[in-house]
Amino acid sequence: MSSAHPSNSSNPLEITITRPDDWHVHLRDGEALSRVIAHTAFQFGRAIVMPNLKPPVTTTEQALAYKDRILAALRESHHPDQNKISNFQPLMTLYLTDTTAPAELERAKAAGIVAVKLYPFGATTNSDSGVTDIRKTYPALEALQRLGMPLLIHAEVTDPSVDLFDREAVFIDRHLKAIRKDLPELKIVVEHITTLEAAQYVQSGDKFLAATITAHHLLYNRNAIFTGGIRPHYYCLPVLKREAHRLALVKAATGASSKFFLGTDSAPHAAHLKEHASGCAGCYTAFSAMELYAEAFDHAGAIDRLEAFASFNGADFYGLPRNTGHITLRRESCQMPESLAFGSAKLVPLRAGEALEWRFVS
Ligand code: DOR
Ligand code: ZN
Repeated sequence: MSSAHPSNSSNPLEITITRPDDWHVHLRDGEALSRVIAHTAFQFGRAIVMPNLKPPVTTTEQALAYKDRILAALRESHHPDQNKISNFQPLMTLYLTDTTAPAELERAKAAGIVAVKLYPFGATTNSDSGVTDIRKTYPALEALQRLGMPLLIHAEVTDPSVDLFDREAVFIDRHLKAIRKDLPELKIVVEHITTLEAAQYVQSGDKFLAATITAHHLLYNRNAIFTGGIRPHYYCLPVLKREAHRLALVKAATGASSKFFLGTDSAPHAAHLKEHASGCAGCYTAFSAMELYAEAFDHAGAIDRLEAFASFNGADFYGLPRNTGHITLRRESCQMPESLAFGSAKLVPLRAGEALEWRFVS
C-alpha cells in the first residue's frame, strides 16, 4: 500500500509506493540506448520495450539479442546508483508484420518474450514494416490468443482522408471492434490512449482489454503544441487532443478501474530531428516520468490512486508478480535541465528548462 506523510492524505508532501513499471517505452539501440537506459532503470522495476528499431525486431532471436544489448548498456551506464538500476528487467516484444508466423510466436512465448506490437503500416516512427491489412495477421492473432500473449496496438488508422485528430476513434470503430468480436479472448492493450472514445471503449470492455496512458497526455492538451509558436517537443503520436479528451484520460487513470495503467511512450529523438521542417514524433519523458505522473495525479486530487495505476494494474493484467521494492516522491519544486547528452546530438526532455512540481527522492 502507498503511504503518505504527513498524515493529511489529501495534501501529502511525500509518498512511498511500490516500485512502478513502465508498460510502454522506446529504448532505441546503440549510442541512444546507452544514453537513455539508466533513466528508465532508475525509476522502474520493469519496462515493456517497443520493437520499432531499424530494422524492426520481428524474430525471437532478434528480441533476445536486443535484450542482451539492453542489459549490457545497463551494466556499462556507470550510474551512481548502479546497484539499484541493475535490478531492472526489460520485457521484450516482437513487431507484428503481415507475415508473422504462428510458429515464431510459439518460439517467442517459450523464450520469455512477453507481447507483440501491432503498428498499422505508416502510422508512426519505423512503421514501414507494419501491418497493411489486419486480416492478413489473423493466423498470428489466433496464435496469440491461444498462447495467452497480449497484443499491443498502436490504435490509429492511416487513411489520409481521416482527420489526424480522429484516427484513434476511427480505428476503434473500423478495426478494434472487429478484432475483439473475432478473437474475444485475445488479450489486448490499446497503447497510449488519447481520447474519450478510447477511454470509454476500454472501460466498458471485459478483462481481456486494457490501455496504457502517458504522462504527457494526462498533463497537456493540443494547445501545448502551438503555444507562442510551434513546439515540436510536444509533438507525439497519437497527437495531443483537446481538453475534454485530456480530462477523460485523467478520470480513467485516477478512477477505480484496473484496466488503465502506466506506459510512458517515452520516445527519444535527437533535438535537431524534432526541431526540423518534418519533425519526428515522440516526447522524451523517461528522465522524469514518475514526477510527471505524480503531478498529473496530484492536480486531480488523486495522488492516492497513483500506486494502483503505476505499480499494480499493469502487472496484474500481464499476469506478472507485482514489484517488491518501493520508491519515494516528494512534492517539492525542482528544475529540469535544458537538454541531456545524446551522443554527438542533444536530447531535449519534456519540460526542459522548466520546473517540476515533484521530486524523485529514492
Ligand atoms: O510519438 C511517438 N513516438 N509515437 C509512436 O508511436 C512512436 C514513437 C517513436 O518511436 O518515436
Ligand atoms: Zn510508443
